[in-house]
Amino acid sequence: MLIKLPPASACKESDVTPESIYLSRRKFVGSSMLGLAATAMPVLARAEDAVRYAGVEPAKAPAWFQSKLSSTQWQAVVAKGETITPYVDATQYNNFYELGANKGDPKANAAALKTEPWTVVVDGEVANPGRYNLEDFIQPHQLEERIYRLRCVEAWSMVVPWLGIPLSALLKQVAPTSKGKFVRFETLVDRENLPGQKSSFGLIDWPYVEGLRIDEAMNPLAILAVGMYGRTLPNQNGAPLRLVVPWKYGFKSIKSIVRISLVEEQPKTTWQSLAADEYGFYANVNPSVDHPRWTQARERRLPSGLFSPNVRDTLMFNGYGDEVASLYSGMDLRVNY
Ligand code: MTE
Repeated sequence: MLIKLPPASACKESDVTPESIYLSRRKFVGSSMLGLAATAMPVLARAEDAVRYAGVEPAKAPAWFQSKLSSTQWQAVVAKGETITPYVDATQYNNFYELGANKGDPKANAAALKTEPWTVVVDGEVANPGRYNLEDFIQPHQLEERIYRLRCVEAWSMVVPWLGIPLSALLKQVAPTSKGKFVRFETLVDRENLPGQKSSFGLIDWPYVEGLRIDEAMNPLAILAVGMYGRTLPNQNGAPLRLVVPWKYGFKSIKSIVRISLVEEQPKTTWQSLAADEYGFYANVNPSVDHPRWTQARERRLPSGLFSPNVRDTLMFNGYGDEVASLYSGMDLRVNY
């Protein structure tokens, strides 16, 4: 798929080379994101690559994922001048309420999430509805690596190299009808095994639900991720399939998706249902619209500690304004937070 991004999204090649362990497997293709011609690239890892992906545990990827890696587009990078967050931080400081409410719970309880077999239903206002095994769902598409900032509404952030497919590619495949104005996403429900869903006193009315307007979903930055750091997604990060919408607060990036529905009305999302005055449907990263209980002007970039909080200014649309601001022209972002 050809996607043309403005120069603001361009980055140095040194920001993108993945770790040495799979450099030998990787077959470079021309990066349509950066407008590069198809070309063979050197297959030598540099010292900095090893540092970037240090701590990545050995993969236990299914065969379909391994075979997809060989044709992955590695240079689709959209986080200019950033350093990738260490794997250990991205995989042990998580929000995934199905696996527990504390930041360490998702990793500790990761085994409770059963990801094989995995089925994804695509339904609603589409010409081609379907029920797919994950493998068949991904099969028609080429994986792309996207290095994105992820900004949580709680004011922490990280930079993650995702592996996924553009959401727009899937939508084109299923062909939304004229009534398909929004995309609604749903996470699995497994009350027997998922610790966060076992309790009948929990606040969340499962399943976790998220949504996008169709034009947001078609934006080239929106992806469905199946991997990160050159591996399949760890369970705590939303295996085996999650949404990544980098210009929005992290709660929009719904994990462990089992259903994608095209709908006519704006879907009622989980956090809106819990506290509509605190979490809106749009949830665009916006340093000038504070959360009612804290400022959104700054954020802690992980790793962040007491003596080195690593605080930085938050960027409008998380730094992706060139790509997405036009989606909201004429809208009052204080009202549509
Ligand atoms: N998806 C589901 N199904 N359940 C969740 O609790 N948490 C969200 C989002 N997706 C969540 C979810 C929130 S609040 C954030 S900030 C991101 O996942 C965190 O993603 P990460 O743990 O990979 O950093």
